Order: sequence, then structure tokens, then C-alpha cells
Amino acid sequence: MTSEELKKEIVRIKKEKNIVILGHYYQIDDIQEISDYVGDSLALAQEAQRTDAPIIVFCGVHFMAETAKLLNPTRKVLLPDMAASCSLAESCSGDDLRKFKQQHPDHIVVSYVNCSAEVKAESDLICTSGNAEKLINALPADQKIIFTPDKNLGSYINRQTGRNMLLWNGVCTVHDALEAEGILKLKQTYPDAPVVAHPECNAAVLAVSDFIGSTKAMLSYIQKTDYKRYIVATESGILYEMRRNNPDKEFVAVSAGESCACLDCSYMKMNTLEKLYRCVCDEQPEILLDAELIAKASKPIVRMLDMSKQLGIIK
Ligand code: 13P
Ligand code: SF4
Repeated sequence: MTSEELKKEIVRIKKEKNIVILGHYYQIDDIQEISDYVGDSLALAQEAQRTDAPIIVFCGVHFMAETAKLLNPTRKVLLPDMAASCSLAESCSGDDLRKFKQQHPDHIVVSYVNCSAEVKAESDLICTSGNAEKLINALPADQKIIFTPDKNLGSYINRQTGRNMLLWNGVCTVHDALEAEGILKLKQTYPDAPVVAHPECNAAVLAVSDFIGSTKAMLSYIQKTDYKRYIVATESGILYEMRRNNPDKEFVAVSAGESCACLDCSYMKMNTLEKLYRCVCDEQPEILLDAELIAKASKPIVRMLDMSKQLGIIK
């Protein structure tokens, strides 16, 4: 089948089976086009909690689909490719975190949502890049905190809040590969263009960026400001939504090196139209979690959503 035929078939089957497709901004354009909701990890977690569709197909990476299952355990949650992992989620296991906690018994654990259900089960609070700063600020000033697994996001939040959280040594290998030097060169070529960056980038890149925020925050910033051109320091999939919302603006993607034109997360790009088609047909592969893990790991996510509502970050 051609891409157009595949898309038509996927849409037909999803309607027939009452399937909701949740797609992250980093998915390929074709998948974003036929998703029922496209969003950042926080918005998609909310949609997963809200939906009454019996089947959720999560087009994103494994930890995101797991989060959807944790928030809506009675639904069948499918992920087109089970191998779609994340370097951050892989950097920290439940066992490692348990040992680390034992060494720091007076600390609570705040984990970035990019982590496994086992790590969530060991955490007191989950955050996303969209709410991390406000959630951390809402915790008592003298509260000692272990922040896992992203050291770049953690040190950015430390700088923003004046905290001294203990940081796990994980990185997003995609964002961490960006270098300030390459961005400075682009700034010389396009001096009128602000740099928008995801906080998973390293400190040197963030230091030369003009706006730092989650995928959704970057999109809102571009919508609200009036530059002709923007330099984009995040995964290439987001360019689809940026261009769709702003046809008159130009976007210059930052690459990770000479050899690649733009920044791709190989995990995110594991989901293809063919795999999505097989997934809606076969209702496989499915995220399966045992009840005890669901009970433990969902608590800090529900706490995040409750706090985010109280703080006015989400409705
Ligand atoms: P968001 O929380 O901005 O959706 O980012 C998720 C992610 O994996 C970024 O690399
Ligand atoms: Fe994980 Fe980075 Fe890919 Fe996001 S872009 S899913 S943080 S590896």
C-alpha cells in the first residue's frame, strides 16, 4: 500500500474499532496527520487519562505508552513498536534508584516522566519539561530532592529555582549531542532569528538559547512572537507542527553534526505507518503491567496532575 492508502485504512479501522491515536510532536509527519491528539508528553498523559475509547494507540516511545496505561489501566494500550525506547529511560533502573535512595534517606525523588514504570514506582513526584520548574518551586524550600534521570533538565531546574537537587547521570542522547558552537554559527548566519531549545539540551546550548521550554512551550512562543525566522534546537518532528501553525515563518533546524541535516530521535522514528497499520489491525503489541506496579507507579503521576491543576498549569 502507498502511504496515502495506509493512512486511509488506519483512519477507517480506528473509527470502526473506536481506537484513539495519541501522537507525540516528534512522530513522523504522516502519523501526526492522522492522530486524534498531537501533543507533548504532559498533554498526551492528560488525554490518556480522559479518553473513554477502549483502545489507545500511543505513537511515541515506550515510557509514554506505559504512562498512558498507568493513568487508564482498564484500557488496552498499544505501541506500534515495543523497541521504541528512550536513552533517559534506559539510564536508570528501578534497582539502581532503590540503592541510591538508601544512600540518601532524607531525600524525596522527583522523576522526569521519561523513565520506566519501575522508576516511577520508586518516585514521590513525576514532572515533565512543561511543569518541572513550577512543581519544584511548589515544594518546601528546605526539601532535599533527588532528580532523575535527566541531568541536563535537572541542572537547568537547579539554575532556575536556586535549588541544589542531587542529579541522576542520564541524558537524552539526541538533545545532548547538540553543541553551542553549531548554534553560534547559525546565529551569525541568521542574526535576527531567536534560538528555541528544549531543556534536555546541555548547559552550553541553553546558555546561547533565547527561549527554553517543552515542545508545547516552544510552539506557543513561536505563535506569540513575531520573528520571521527561528533557529530550532530540538527534535525534527516538531517542525511539522511549527510549519503547519506558522506558514509565513521560516524554521532553521539545528543539526547534531556535519553528517545529518536535522535532529532525529531514532526511537521516536521507529513508529512507521506500516507498523501503525499492523497495530490497529492486530491490536498488538500491547503494554501489560501488573496491578501492584500500576498502583505504585500511578501515584506520583496523579500527584503531578493534581499539583499541575492546583498551580493552574493545566485545566
Ligand atoms: P516533551 O515533554 O516536551 O513532550 O518532551 C518529551 C521528550 O521526549 C523530549 O525529548
Ligand atoms: Fe528520549 Fe531524547 Fe528521544 Fe525524547 S528525544 S524520546 S528524551 S531519546
